[in-house]
Amino acid sequence: YENITNKDDVKIKQKIDEAHKNIQNNTAYAIKLFDVLLQNYSSSPRSLYGKAQALDVLADQKRSNEILQKAIATYFKLLDLEDVPDPLFEAAAERCINRLRFMGNYNRAVDVHLKLIARFPEEPKYRNQLVVSYLTVNRVKKARMMLQETLSKYPNDGFALVHYGFILKTVDNNLHESISYLERGISTRAPGVIDGRFYFHLGDALARLGRTEEAMKVYEDGVEQKLFLSKYQRSLYNVDRLKGQPWWKKEETPYGNLYSVLEANWQKIRDEGISVMNKNDLFQSESENLKDTGDWKQFELFARGQKNVENCKKCPITCKIIDSIPDARGCKRGQTKFSVMHPTTHVWPHCGPTNCRLRVHLGLKVPPRTYIRVADEIRSWKNGEVLIFDDSFEHEVWHNGTTFRLVLIVDVWHPELTSLEKRTLSPI
Ligand code: LMR
Ligand code: MN
Repeated sequence: YENITNKDDVKIKQKIDEAHKNIQNNTAYAIKLFDVLLQNYSSSPRSLYGKAQALDVLADQKRSNEILQKAIATYFKLLDLEDVPDPLFEAAAERCINRLRFMGNYNRAVDVHLKLIARFPEEPKYRNQLVVSYLTVNRVKKARMMLQETLSKYPNDGFALVHYGFILKTVDNNLHESISYLERGISTRAPGVIDGRFYFHLGDALARLGRTEEAMKVYEDGVEQKLFLSKYQRSLYNVDRLKGQPWWKKEETPYGNLYSVLEANWQKIRDEGISVMNKNDLFQSESENLKDTGDWKQFELFARGQKNVENCKKCPITCKIIDSIPDARGCKRGQTKFSVMHPTTHVWPHCGPTNCRLRVHLGLKVPPRTYIRVADEIRSWKNGEVLIFDDSFEHEVWHNGTTFRLVLIVDVWHPELTSLEKRTLSPI
């Protein structure tokens, strides 16, 4: 511990080391020892650090947020001392940020990030860590400013390049510029740049500019780096062992009951959807920037395994059907929704977020010249019939007809998930 021990702490190093040994297995005793040290040496960096670490361990043992807050307050005290050796400052600050993020307290984490940046102004790593905190709480303006500053000083910092490219793509929809930043960032191979999100958006930007061969090359690289399940299946929240194929046959799934009840009741379901459309158009525009041209809206009944009670009041028959099918109602990684698409719509090729669901479409009002491609195969809907596909595979939709198309989308759990997985997977 030489390099974390300042000249005053050297004099009491034996006592500090003795207390330190007790942190893991005799935590309460360690706190007592550090408190005694702090009574005599109130500005001893290593005593404060030891006390913070011991409180941190105790908080974990007792699962106590109150104790964790005390630990965090102690890390802060340490960071404000005069004579803290660099490695100690760094270790304490990074742990403090880790715990503040764990508590969801990103605003206070920012204060610690700023202390690190002030102390190590020539170290881009700390600026990049701050960007991650900003982006986690959607403070995009702040993230953007910090990245611009970092890149003006360090134009080849890979981490900053990919994050700036990510903002240009996902916030500004600035495809050209985003490609340049993402490409340069990824090519550095720096820590943190080989990440599915950056490959995903680089390929998507290229594809939207018609540079499909380059996009496919990016996706194939992504598969090689184990970021994607396959060049067409680019979901990022996956259970790896699940069977993956673009289109599914009814018999390949255990959901025969669902298909029968949907197909038997399709006209009632259609009438409920159309009545919501006609009332005071409660459908909401697609909001994920997936649309190239046209008009595409949805009316959600279930999402993340939860019923939308207000919306279900308007479609009681449809919701009762979904309620009766646990793998649809309880599909925490999916939704049930009406989807209306108007003529001249084109939806860009895109992938859903997860391979944990299959997507069932029930055709309700299907005019000619409406198509959906999943991976290599284009199909169309039929009134009163279901189509089943895995939307983690690239899919693309066209409406070249003359009247609106309405379908009911029902996501169901992937049939190979265990009941434990269905209970414990995080919602999406
Ligand atoms: C999709 O799931 O992206 C589309 O198939 C939705 C739709 O309305 O066709
Ligand atoms: Mn989709």
